[in-house]
Amino acid sequence: MRRLSVVIFAMLLVGFGLQSFTLNKESTLGSEDIGLKMPKKVDAIIQNKCYGCHSANGKSDKAKEKLMWDELTSMNPSQQVEKLKAIGKVLSEGAMPPKKMVEKMPEKKLTEKETKIMSKWASKGASKLSKLI
Ligand code: HEC
Repeated sequence: MRRLSVVIFAMLLVGFGLQSFTLNKESTLGSEDIGLKMPKKVDAIIQNKCYGCHSANGKSDKAKEKLMWDELTSMNPSQQVEKLKAIGKVLSEGAMPPKKMVEKMPEKKLTEKETKIMSKWASKGASKLSKLI
């Protein structure tokens, strides 16, 4: 009798373990945790300094071809990594927003702090997403 209860107890434990394992897995996969996050701070910079060109209403086809912010979060991880790397590159080169625009509208230039926030976001996102590929 004692043995049986030990066996039942063990089975319950295993069952529990399995259940929480699968639940955990699901909740992680289904959560924002694993996908590309767009923190408010990053989103605000993008809206203010990048979105005008890299969105459906942008005038430059080239800019739209290269990067559409609205499509970024729905891309697959390897495409996202590619875009995040390209973003990191233009940020480190100070290439975006383009010089021509910054000359006309100096307030559109990214501040040092904004560049840091964006670069950190892009490199963190890229390394996190690389693990999913
Ligand atoms: C005035 C319009 C304009 C604004 C504002 C702008 N871009 Fe661009 N962006 C462009 C154009 C045009 C291209 C295409 C350049 C080319 O291919 O020669 C481009 C290309 C890019 C690329 C692709 C580079 C590559 O070679 O793959 C990235 C990444 C990028 N922009 C990021 C940004 C970010 C980040 C911001 C905001 C900080 C920003 N852009 C703001 C016009 C803009």
